[in-house]
Amino acid sequence: MAFGRGKVILFGEHGVVHGRPALAAGLARGVTATAIAADADALVVEAWDLEVSPSPEAEQPLGRALWEVLRRFDGERAPLRVTAEVALPAGAGLGCSAALGVAVIGAVDEALGAKRSPEALAEACLVWERVFHGNPSGVDSAMAAMGGVAVFRRGETLVPIVPRTPIRLVIADSGETSSTMSMVAEVARQHERAPARIDAVFDGMAAIVQNGRLAVETGDLRSLGQLMTLNQTLLNTLMISTAKLEEMCSAAREAGALGAKLTGAGGGGCMIALVDTVARGEAVCAALSPLCQSAFVAEAGA
Ligand code: MEV
Repeated sequence: MAFGRGKVILFGEHGVVHGRPALAAGLARGVTATAIAADADALVVEAWDLEVSPSPEAEQPLGRALWEVLRRFDGERAPLRVTAEVALPAGAGLGCSAALGVAVIGAVDEALGAKRSPEALAEACLVWERVFHGNPSGVDSAMAAMGGVAVFRRGETLVPIVPRTPIRLVIADSGETSSTMSMVAEVARQHERAPARIDAVFDGMAAIVQNGRLAVETGDLRSLGQLMTLNQTLLNTLMISTAKLEEMCSAAREAGALGAKLTGAGGGGCMIALVDTVARGEAVCAALSPLCQSAFVAEAGA
């Protein structure tokens, strides 16, 4: 059985596509997959009632992504049927597609007796991610394969960070799904139209990542929360938040969260709010319940 983790981006989404760092954390929730010998290659995702065959022309992107990863396995092999169990919402900013890609590649490796490092697994998942996201930075694949809390920068080795105290988050799904591909393309268009202005926003996010890293390493939860709220202000200048996400961030702060922001591509998806205790997290979940589809307390990087 192979596993790919979900992730949250604590700081730096979108800037990370344009060469800036991001601070991200793996989640205990993710996708598990197993592969068994069969008559033909296929991927079954029970939660979505979906079965796809690999093909470069498949209408369903999963079929094209499966084709991209399977054609890179060298030599003769028996056909494999991969079954995946998905415990993450899709299109919600929690890295569901990368978690699925890492789990699928890991399951095929296992069935073939192939060995691959987590770094190589993350790299292999990029072709899968490109089918869904066009120009992924690679942060989702890296976190899906490696987990923990880490600073990611495109093309560089992941830098693991050790939190001084547990980072407890409320993760709440707005129920609005969004397409990472179109959100990334929209921010890239803004960057093309006004490079100096958008670069300044990305540079501001990069500074937040550096300060956020210090706050994680020193266990300064108050600063960490303030930096999350500041990051949200910068994401707002890119016009990728929604009225619902803003409402959820305010409600979380009013219920005692130390800071809140959207996580991932925006345009919907999930909000994360920092809390000092599990009990406070439960109170924030209760305050959010009339506003969101679902909410739970998780430890970042667990
Ligand atoms: C998606 O989880 C985060 C984005 O920065 C896209 C990417 O890094 O590929 C929006």
